[in-house]
Amino acid sequence: MAQVEVKYTQIFINNEWHDSISGKTFETINPFTEEKLANVQEGDKADIDRAVAAAVDAFRFDSPWRQMDASQRGHLLYRLADLIERDQDYIASLESMDNGKPKTMALFDVDLAIKVFRYYAGYADKIHGKTIPAVFAFTRIEPVGICGQIVPWNFPFLMASWKFGPALCAGNTVVLKPAEQTPLSALYLASLTKEVGFPPGVVNVVPGFGETAGAALVDNPKVDKIAFTGSTEIGKLIMRNGSHSMKRITLELGGKSPLVVTENVEDIAQAARTAQDSCFLNMGQCCCAGTRTFVHESIYDEFVKHSVEYCQSHVFGNPFDSKTAFGPQVDKTQMNRILEMIESGKQEGARCVAGGNRMDKRGYFVEPTVFADVTDGMRIAREEIFGPVQQILKYKTLDEVIERCNDTNYGLGSAILTNDINEAMKFSRSIRAGSVWINIPYMIPVSVQTPFGGFKESGVGRELGEDGLRGYGEIKTVVIMDREKKM
Ligand code: NAI
Ligand code: MG
Repeated sequence: MAQVEVKYTQIFINNEWHDSISGKTFETINPFTEEKLANVQEGDKADIDRAVAAAVDAFRFDSPWRQMDASQRGHLLYRLADLIERDQDYIASLESMDNGKPKTMALFDVDLAIKVFRYYAGYADKIHGKTIPAVFAFTRIEPVGICGQIVPWNFPFLMASWKFGPALCAGNTVVLKPAEQTPLSALYLASLTKEVGFPPGVVNVVPGFGETAGAALVDNPKVDKIAFTGSTEIGKLIMRNGSHSMKRITLELGGKSPLVVTENVEDIAQAARTAQDSCFLNMGQCCCAGTRTFVHESIYDEFVKHSVEYCQSHVFGNPFDSKTAFGPQVDKTQMNRILEMIESGKQEGARCVAGGNRMDKRGYFVEPTVFADVTDGMRIAREEIFGPVQQILKYKTLDEVIERCNDTNYGLGSAILTNDINEAMKFSRSIRAGSVWINIPYMIPVSVQTPFGGFKESGVGRELGEDGLRGYGEIKTVVIMDREKKM
């Protein structure tokens, strides 16, 4: 198996590699082999404070970074994208080993990350304010300052790119804390920012745990903004804990996104494949996964039959095998969480028509699972599962299904499969969710140009696209007195 060498396991501050101040390390595991990949330096409050101090220093008004021409910032981001492209095979291998996702999927993630950096590279010198005639005034869009960025383990490298891209484009300095399950690819990305020539202190990466390193980043009063992707529970905690210093906060959180299959689809088997791909992508470890599949009653039974057939066709195994579509879940905790949710579905009377167990093999594999006859009140229809577990529900009318889709505290993604444009348009304006995908093959933001984020408890703010920059800028108004002019 094409394993690669782990090159960086230390804390990255001021363009230098450091051991943790406490001397502690933690293990990162390969979820396919269940074996240790590396000991990583475990950052906690002391290391976070050191990283924040470096980021503060790099953000001084007269620092090289603050004095840098905006086009040059863009140039650094373009070069970063080029280096990622140069090393894409290595990065994808590292990601696959640390996270368990198939390498083909990891290559897809890395490709998206390259696109993110190129998109924001182009934007760096196009951020500007307005001139306003009152007296005489103009606005400047300035960087927010020191950005604490906390990312999860499901798309470790891609999420780091979503955080770094707009933050660096807009001239901020950053301290990123990768997830404890998957710290390696972000550390490699840090090494590339140094190679490219970002000034010391602009980019800092501190691996460590959420309750220690993550919480310290939220607590540090010098941090101006927190950008977080992860669970809704921790998102709420960050909102509360960040309030003491009035931090700007953007959150990309969980979801229980609906996908509606109307009676107006052309091909029921194809619709069943699309619905399942939308739920199972990345082993179901997707915040915007379509985990509630609503199917019109007239095609329900046939749809379930095709869903079972498709579910049994998935190829799982070694993430480095190009035929593998399913790897293991990220760790034992997540696997057990998923198995517990599957058990609750069985207990509450949903019909488990495919899968439903841990796989009888090494690695944290869960069988791709399909539940039919799911009703709205069941836990599997309300709570995020974050695994390859599909819930198929039955509906009669579009109005009824819209109500049911919206009956959730989440509002991240939504999708409809239909050949009826009026049905699609009504759905798109009635759903309370940040994204509505019509006749798409997967429920994920595949274009960097489109904003992504949540309504309701799925988050605050948007990432990607031009809107993704809003969370990284402060508007400053400069007023100039014209003594000749009356006010
Ligand atoms: P989590 O929300 O605890 O972890 C995400 C990130 O937050 C990690 O980097 C973690 O170290 C950090 N973190 C944890 N506690 C923190 C704290 N008190 N202060 C600051 N940072 C903190 O998610 P976890 O435990 O890994 O997964 C639990 C569930 O969350 C999953 O089953 C899934 O339902 C959901 N989840 C959603 C994600 C999304 O993309 N929306 C990604 C990961 C998990
Ligand atoms: Mg790992």
